[in-house]
Order: sequence, then structure tokens, then C-alpha cells
Amino acid sequence: ADLVIHSRGGNVTTSIMYGLMHEDINNSGDGGIYAELISNRAFQGSAEFPSSLESWSAVNNATLTLKKLNTPLSAALPNSLNVAAGTGTKKGAKVGFANAGYWGMDVRVQNYTGSFFVRGGFEGAFTASLQSAITGEVFGSVEVPGTQSVKDGWVQRNFTLVPRRAAGSSNNTFAVTFDAAGIREGSSLDFNLISLFPPTYKNRPNGMRIDIMEALAKLNPKFLRLPGGNMLEGNTIDTYWKWNETIGPLKNRPGMAGVWKYQLTTGMGLVEYMHWCDDLNLEPIVAVWAGLSLDGAYTPQSEIHTVVQYALDELEFLTGAATTKWGGVRASILGHDRPWRVKYVEIGNEDWLAGRPTAFDSYKQYRFQAFQSAFANKYPDIQIIASPSVFDNMVIPAPAAGDYHPYLTPDEFVAQFSRFDRLGAGNLTFIGEAATVHANGGKGWDGNLMPNPWWAGSVAEAIFLLGAERNSDRIIGATYAPGLRNLNRWQWGMTLMQHAADPALTTLSTSWYLLGNHVITKTLPVSHSSKAFSIGPLYYVAGTGEKGTSIVKLAVYNATEPVQVSLQFEAGYRHDAKAKGARGTLTVLTGPKDPYAVNDPFTRVNVVNETISKLTADEKGLFKFSLPPLSVAVFETGGE
Ligand code: AHR
Repeated sequence: ADLVIHSRGGNVTTSIMYGLMHEDINNSGDGGIYAELISNRAFQGSAEFPSSLESWSAVNNATLTLKKLNTPLSAALPNSLNVAAGTGTKKGAKVGFANAGYWGMDVRVQNYTGSFFVRGGFEGAFTASLQSAITGEVFGSVEVPGTQSVKDGWVQRNFTLVPRRAAGSSNNTFAVTFDAAGIREGSSLDFNLISLFPPTYKNRPNGMRIDIMEALAKLNPKFLRLPGGNMLEGNTIDTYWKWNETIGPLKNRPGMAGVWKYQLTTGMGLVEYMHWCDDLNLEPIVAVWAGLSLDGAYTPQSEIHTVVQYALDELEFLTGAATTKWGGVRASILGHDRPWRVKYVEIGNEDWLAGRPTAFDSYKQYRFQAFQSAFANKYPDIQIIASPSVFDNMVIPAPAAGDYHPYLTPDEFVAQFSRFDRLGAGNLTFIGEAATVHANGGKGWDGNLMPNPWWAGSVAEAIFLLGAERNSDRIIGATYAPGLRNLNRWQWGMTLMQHAADPALTTLSTSWYLLGNHVITKTLPVSHSSKAFSIGPLYYVAGTGEKGTSIVKLAVYNATEPVQVSLQFEAGYRHDAKAKGARGTLTVLTGPKDPYAVNDPFTRVNVVNETISKLTADEKGLFKFSLPPLSVAVFETGGE
């Protein structure tokens, strides 16, 4: 294919083309990017997932009982752990409790920041320790002063634990033990909110896991869509993600029944999401609850104003001055005087899907409109995004944008390369979730999704994204979803990354983007000199990069032979890419013969091969190269 890249025409692109989306699915929050090591730290429960002692075990002769005390730690955390010495405990023998973590804990020589609440008079010291779950070897421990004077109230004990040596595996536990002879009243002690953090990204208290944040940063993401996804909606009309219950001290957060089959701590709440944005310099795309739950129930018109007000309050909490009601809460509870800036708000999540057609009708008839007019009134500069897109049978009322969530087969993605070419000028679209989930010909949901991103699927996604980039004056941005998956418990296999307690298992999928690291700020028209050539098997987009370079992104799908490419840059560039001897860099990603090959965290096999080569323009000023079947490439020139 002989491609001519023109120096005039095209369009200015979105400034946030690639980003991230997060909700707690696949234990990607609790047990994932949220760095807390203790699982079930506060015995939180719900009607769906009753409070339990899951993850906890007795040390030595202790008896552990889950209790609902008359004097709980807080209204939000009514359950606690009662620890008594079992009958026959020898004098001086230490008893206590251990936590298995989220399928283990990574132990190395570094500071672990811990704390727990304890109730009951106790003389002596607690021992907090990290040890092997297999051999019992203690890697590190610290003495934590007791509670002599406090008999009835709860007191918090904070500590720093520094292991003497690193563990050989992540099969470790955390324990708190004590000499039961030190108990002053009764025969037991109560514990709650038992927490242990390793160092976190940018040292944030209650922060994020370093290796996962560092990996995400390498994607060069520009936005974070939060907090979902289905998690935002909740399974029933009462169990949606309540932003005001995810803020403030952890002891005031009740947690919630997650929609992905496990209870959530909400330790990673609204503010932690905003810190994530701050730390990676991301534009928050805040999804507010729109009065729809996954069972199809929705808020009647007569009550929609309360749901709208709830969303306005959330925005005031984030963006309001400290003198406003909710801005004041932010400033006083969190000491966060400076408001955040929010430019994008999405109204709900996939309101076209659950409970259709009735629930979707309610969105079209009054729910979306109620939000749109309230926000236009109070926050006229915020770009509102409707949760359906024009492709979901909804007319999106300008100036709102729509949100398109393609979960498709590779062939379907490739067929959508030109989808956005036909998007009318007023139809601003966000791609808030996208991934190949089925092999060609596959369909269905529960249990029918592919277990891992595979190479051919990733190439097809890239082609779809090149199509979006071509039209990125009408695209707000795009993100893969879901982003993360814990290898030990997951509901949805197709994710950008996988992780476990052991950071050595953190694995980037075949869909890890090359595209986000070559930002096009203005597209440029491309024509092809060969009349015989039509779109496919080569797909492409070209434009000007952030530093004035010229960028061409290409992908090959459905070819049996390598595709010969010749790039000709029309005269008129600041840099003389056309001249003989001009230089450029070609990065090519290819996969193995097997198009279904995946990156494997356990064998460490990464099937994606990256080659970077320097190209020189020939005597006619053409850059010539060949791209193998199923490949993705970026050519950049003008930066030398
Ligand atoms: O990304 C997984 C789920 O897919 C999201 O929670 C939901 O929005 C979509 O249906």
C-alpha cells in the first residue's frame, strides 16, 4: 500500500484519547490496586454477603468469635472479632489471630504501616508479625503497647513493622498475638479494623499498590472513568455505590455489597479515586448514579429530583469551595481545602441495558433530562455524557456526549473501523469500555467470555481504536475494560492486566497499548496512490504528534502475506520528512503463529514481540517497510 500523508486538513484531536476505567470487579480494588493487605479487615457484611470470619484463623489456643457488640467501634462497623484464650491455655502462652490476606501477602524488607482497634483492659504488649503460612517462620514482628487504662472504650494502636528478611513466596500471614494473662476485665478482647499497608504509590496513606500504579502510568493514560461500570448501579435499587459512604475515616465506611459477587470495603472510595487521578495526572470522568439498578428497578419521575440532588452534592463535594455545604465537608473532614476540577460527568452506566425496555424508556423520557438540565444550570462547563450512545438507539441531546461500550469479536471490531467516520458532527462519543470478549463466531455472556485477551483480539481492538483516532474530534476518549484482575478470584477474564499478592505475577495482557504512548494532537488526511487498494487488510491513521513529529499508526488483520507499505509525506511539513535521507522510527508489535496465544503470568511467556527499527527515506523520499499479518505498528518521524 502506498500511503500519502497530507500536510493539511484533518482535525484537532481530543486531548484525552486513552485512559483507564475502574470499578471493583475481579478483586481489582480490594485485593488489587488498593494496597491494603488484610482481607475482611472490619468484618463488613450485607444482606447478600453476611459478615463472617473469612480470612481469619486462631493462633495457638485462641477462640475467635464474630460479635455484634452494644458498643461497636462505629455505627458503620457494627461487627468485631472477639478473642479469648481457649480452655487449657498454658500460662504465658500467647494467643491471637492471623489473617491470610488477599490470597497471601508480599513480604519484603520495607516499612509496613499497621493499625488495629482493641477494646478491653489489657496490660502488656501485643505482638504484630508477618510469617510464612507454610513453615511459620517469622520474617518480622513488632511490639505494640497494650491498653491498660481503657476498659470499655475502643482504642487504636498504630505500629510500623519492618521484616528482617524478605519471604521467598507470598504465602504468608499477618498475626496479632498477646499473653491472655494480661487481660484485666473479663476473659477476652475485641478487635476491629485491623489494617496493614506496604509502602504505597507516592506514599499516600490508605493508598495504592506501587507496581500496579507504575505499570498503569506507563500506558500514558489521560483519564480515569470511575466508579464503574455495574458497581455504580448496584444489584438492587438500594445497593448502588453511595459516594458519601466511601469518604472520611475508614471506621465510618460501612462497605457495600459488590455486584461482582463479593463484599467491598470501600476503603478505596471517592477521594482515593481522585488521588489516583492526581497521582497519574488523569482527568476524572465521574459517573454519578442515575437511579437504575441492575435488576431493572428505577427511580420514578416523582422522586428523580432526590437522585439528581445526590449527584449535585457529589459534585459539590469534589469541586465546591470550602464555604459550600459539601465542599466544607471535604475541607473539614479531609483537610482538602483545594477543590478538584471535574470536566466530565457521566449520568449512570449502561442505562440502555438493565430492565429494558422500560428502564431505558425512563432514561430517555425523564431521568437523563433531569440530570442534564440540573447540571447545565449549576455546572454549565461540565461535559455531560449519557450512558448510552447513538449506537444504542438513543438520540443524545446536544451538547451531551454518549458512551459506547463495544464488547465484540475480532471480526466485529475490525468491521467497525469506519464506524465513527459516519458520526455526525454533533454526536460526541466516549468509548468508556471496550474489549474483544469472544472469538469470531462466539457469543453469549455468563461463562461464555474468553478467559484471556489473545493476540488476534488485541490487533482487532487496535484497528477499532485507529478508527476512533481518525475521528477524534468527535471522540472524547477510549478505554479498555475491565482494567485489572486478581488471578485468585475473578468474574471477567478479559482485562488489561492481571495481578496477585506476589508482584512477580503482575502481567500485562496482549492488549497493553502501544497507541497511548504516541499521542496524535491533529490528524492528517491519508490517501493511497494505488487505485486497487481499499481499506483492509491494512488499517491506519496519521497525524501530528505532541512534539511536532509525524505519526502513522497501522495494523494488519486478515492477511495471509506481509503487507508492503510505502509512506510518502507530502511537502509542507516543518520537518522535511519527504527528503531523501530523512529518518524515522518504526515500532512493530507481532504475535506468534497461534492467533489465540495469550500472555501467561505463571510461565512468564509474553507472546507479543516488539521490534524497533530506524528507517531512512529512499531517493524518492519514501519510507518503505513490510508489516506481517496480525501486526500493529507506529511510525514516527521528524523528532530526530
Ligand atoms: O466491564 C465489565 C462490565 O461490562 C461493566 O461493569 C459494565 O458496565 C459492562 O457491562
